[in-house]
Order: sequence, then C-alpha cells, then structure tokens
Amino acid sequence: MCGIVGYVGTEDAVPVLLDGLKRLEYRGYDSAGIAVQTKDGLQWRKCVGRLTELEEALSKHRLQGRPGIGHTRWATHGEPSEINSHPHLDGQGRVAVVHNGIIENYQSLRDQLTAAGHHFLSATDTEVIPHLIEQELANGAADPEAAVRGALKKARGAYALGILFRDQPDTLYAARLGSPLIVGLGDNGYYIASDVPAVVKHIREVIYLNDGEMAVLTSEGVTVKTLDGETVAHTTHPVQMAPEAAERAGFETFMLKEIHEQPRVLRSLLEQHVNDAGQVQLPEVGFSDDYFQLLRRIMIVSCGTAYHAAMYGKFLLEHLTGLAVETDLGSEFRYRSPRIERDTLFVAVSQSGETADTLASLRLAREMKCKVCSICNVQGSTLVRESDSVVFTEAGPEIGVASTKAYTAQLLAFALFSIHVGRARGEITDAYAQELLEALAGVPDAIHYVLERADHIRAIADKHHDGPSALYLGRRFNYPTALEGALKNKEISYQHAEGYAAGEMKHGPIALINEYLPVICICTQTADEVYEKMISNIKEVEARHGRIIALATDGDKQVSTFAEDIIYVPAIREEFSPLVNVVALQLLAYYAAQARGTDIDKPRNLAKSVTVE
Ligand code: F6R
Repeated sequence: MCGIVGYVGTEDAVPVLLDGLKRLEYRGYDSAGIAVQTKDGLQWRKCVGRLTELEEALSKHRLQGRPGIGHTRWATHGEPSEINSHPHLDGQGRVAVVHNGIIENYQSLRDQLTAAGHHFLSATDTEVIPHLIEQELANGAADPEAAVRGALKKARGAYALGILFRDQPDTLYAARLGSPLIVGLGDNGYYIASDVPAVVKHIREVIYLNDGEMAVLTSEGVTVKTLDGETVAHTTHPVQMAPEAAERAGFETFMLKEIHEQPRVLRSLLEQHVNDAGQVQLPEVGFSDDYFQLLRRIMIVSCGTAYHAAMYGKFLLEHLTGLAVETDLGSEFRYRSPRIERDTLFVAVSQSGETADTLASLRLAREMKCKVCSICNVQGSTLVRESDSVVFTEAGPEIGVASTKAYTAQLLAFALFSIHVGRARGEITDAYAQELLEALAGVPDAIHYVLERADHIRAIADKHHDGPSALYLGRRFNYPTALEGALKNKEISYQHAEGYAAGEMKHGPIALINEYLPVICICTQTADEVYEKMISNIKEVEARHGRIIALATDGDKQVSTFAEDIIYVPAIREEFSPLVNVVALQLLAYYAAQARGTDIDKPRNLAKSVTVE
C-alpha cells in the first residue's frame, strides 16, 4: 500500500528512484512522484497514473541531483490526482515528504495548523506532516531533525516516511511506525525503501527499522535514533536475496514467472525442512514437544489468499494433531470478543508480514498471553519480529499482486507444521509421518506436470472467459482451493467468481446455474470419502445444464461422462492435492485475464501489501 524509496550518496538519485519505484509499483499505482535536491534547490515532479507517466514527464522536464525521495501511491485519503500525489510539501517548499500509512489524527492536526495560518492543497492525511515540521521550525526547533521528531510525536497512526529539507542538501530523514521501511547500505550510498527488492541491486546490508525509530542518512553514513533523539545501536543484516529474484526473467508477467517458480520453491522448502532420516525439521518454530502436548487449541488468523491457506491449515491440523483449530479473518477477529487463552497457539499467516489486520490480531493475541507462530515469506517483516516463532515460506519476492507461489508455500508450510505437531503430540506415528512426507515429495513434479499442460488450460480459459460469472466448487481440503480459484479469477480477470463448498450449493447458489454458467468442479480424488459426494454435487449441476469444467485425476473415466472440459492432474494424496490443484486454477485465471486484456500484475484498485485497516 504505497511504496517509498529514497537515496543519498554519490550518484544521480533520479534513476535510482525510478528503478526502485518500478519495483514497488505493486504496492500501489494510482500516482507517482519524486523530489530531488538539484543544483537549483529542492525540486519535484508528480503525475497521476502509472509510473510510466512520471517517466514521460521526466523525459520532458529532466531532474538531476541527490539525495532524492520517491513514492508510488495507493489512494486512501483523496482521489488519485496530481495534487494528492506525493511528495507533499510545507507552505514554503522547504520540506518534502513521502509517506506510506495513515495519519489517523490528521483532521485535528490540520484544523490546528489551519488556525495557525497553514494552507493545505490536497485532501491527503500526509500533507499535515510537512506542515507540522514547518510549524516546529517556526516554534523554534533547534534543527530540522528536532523538527521532525517534534512533528512525529504529534502524529498518531501509521507511517513510513522519507523527508528532505531544502536547506540540508546531503541529508535524508526516514521514520517508521507501523508501516514497513528498511534502510539499505551500499557501495554508492544509503537507501530507504518499503521493501528490500526495491533497492536490492544496490545494497549489501540492510537495517530493519523498528517502530518508533528514525534514521538520519547522509552520504557519510546512517544513524538510527529514537524520537527522543537517543542514538540506537542497530543490527545490520546481510542481504540474502539475489538481485535477479526481483526480475521477470523472460516471462511476460511476474505472475506467470511466479506460477512457474512453484516446483522449485516447494522442492527447496522440502529439502530444507525434511532431513535425511525423513523427519520434519522446523528449527525456527522452537517450541518443545512438551509445549505441543499441553496445547489445547490453535487459532489461525490471516487475510485474503493467506486466509484460504489458513482454512487448509485448519483441515490438516485437525486431521493430524487432534487439536481443536479455529480460523478467522484478521479484519473480523480483532472486532469480536475472541476467547483465546494461554493454552492456545496463535498462528498468523502472511506473505508480506505487514498486513495491518493480521498484525493487529497478532497484537491482540499477545495481550491475551498467547504464544504466536507466524507463517511468513519476508525476513525482517513486522509480523516475524513480533512473533515467538516462525515458519518461513522462502518463496522469494512475490511481485505480481495476485499471490501464487506464496500460497502454495503456505500450504506446504502448514503440511510440514502439521506433521511436526502431530508427531510431537504422538498423534501420528513415525511411519505415517514418513508416508506423508513421501507423498509431499511428489508435489513439485505433479505441479510441473500441470504447468506442462498450460496450453490446454489456456484453451479452456479462452472458451469460458466471456460470461459474467463463474462458480468454483470443492469439498474438504479442496474447499479452500475453490475459494482461492475464484479469488484468483475475480482479482485478475475481473470476471465475477464465487467459490463454494460443493455440498452447500443446493442451499442457495444452485439458483444461479443455467446453460451459460461455467462451474469449475474440483473432483481430483478417486478413492477418498468425499469423491462420490462431489460427483453427486456435480450431477446436480449437470441436471441444470451448467457448463462443467472438471479438475480430475489422471485416468478418471467417470468425469468425462458429464464434464464439458477436463483438466487432468496427477494422482496425489487428497490431503496434499490442493497444492497441485490450485496451480491449474491459477493458470485458468491467468489465461482468462489475458483473454480479457487486463493488467495482470497490477489489477485495478488492488495493492499487494495491505498496510491499512
Ligand atoms: C490475493 C492476495 C491477497 C493477500 C492478502 C494478505 O491474491 O494476494 O488477498 O493474500 O492481502 O496479504 P499477506 O499475505 O501479505 O498478509
């Protein structure tokens, strides 16, 4: 949700900022802007629309200089417009600010500042920050740094900020409270960014700022301080990500690249967490077997796609650990009166580790004295830092806005975690755990098989993408797969889609079925207890002339008697079939979106990391 980048050093800042913003555009793409210290003083450019608009504006009216700050916006307060774009300035053009987050008390601050003679141009919450800083200076703040500290002490809400002062041509200020911000250390200078991939090609080491900290960056170095001005000893971490991980690598979109990365991601996760003796190793989980034996309940909370992973996790944990498991959406959990006690393990699932509702739920669980384990893709993220233990999904940077490889990695993380907890509690035997792990070892190849049939899936998408709606049905472990398939379809192709538990269809959605409605039916198992039930549900669709697209196991003869189109996947244990099935649905959504001509990596109105509530 909004991306910010900044640079101070020996190079021209403009190409660094534009390149960084390009890599952050997945966080928002309503408008973009930069501010740079030029030889003629502090200057800025901003444009409504995609980053390309800004690039075009800069090709006509060049800027050159250093340091600089940049922003790509996902609008919250105020429509996408040039005036609402960042950077925002104070009344005299002395202070330029880029911001990600929401200043919750902006209206009262704005009223006070207006009464003091400040004039606001935009409808944003952000604009109060440069004006507050200006006011602090007018009130006698000792220097710009003191003015920043004074201003931030008055702001409530969430922010990651980059700030330049016209009168300090070699200094960049950064601050963080509740919104992600990293400081990068490179050979040619110092950087700030909403995430590491934005500046990965320039940096060797990274500092993860904590909430309530600010950083003062000059071309000589970085100092981290509290808002009281005390210097903080900070830890630098080596950058582990290869710069190529943030490139498209010849694929037409990041999403397609990320779909194709899944066999490699899952194989490497398995190699990392299954030892030679065929046992699950999750060192970062850290809890003892005794802890798991005394545990009574698991509460899993997340949002969006990660919530579908949570649903899968619930089915699997209940199946393998004998524990009571509950799930909730981050945005709901925090507003009900959840009954969780010390003997509940709270599991938060998030690709980014920065989703506001998931983080707020985690904090609520901590207040209730629960231990927290997070399943997360981003090292150093807020979620990871606030958790007692973690399972990293290690999927690498996910840049396409629609989550794909992070989802299957979350499912695999749940599979490994469930086996680990099941063993620790003595609910499953070593032999059974090994049987499960052997089945999991077959997943990467099974996904590869699906990817090799992409052309067939494309032909099906081409045939069915036109209608106004589509229905996705699945049962048990594949009920979340149906929800996720529908979500993928609607978010990137804009075709309305609904996922449903197949057995529930006759309680309502069956009214939708007619000879035009594509109904995607997940019936990949031939031997398990819900297969026959699923077939009966599909028959109900057939009887009403719905257009059945079946996901079926290779060799299944039955489905061809009623399905108009079939996507075959290799046989795999039912528990783990969602990891394979969802890849077929990702491709189906992808090709539907392609046929409908949408911007697949940056679907309208969406942003990847939802750092506002
Ligand atoms: C959909 C999608 C979103 C995210 C959700 C949570 O494709 O990506 O629904 O899953 O915004 O994000 P994280 O996992 O970063 O907490």
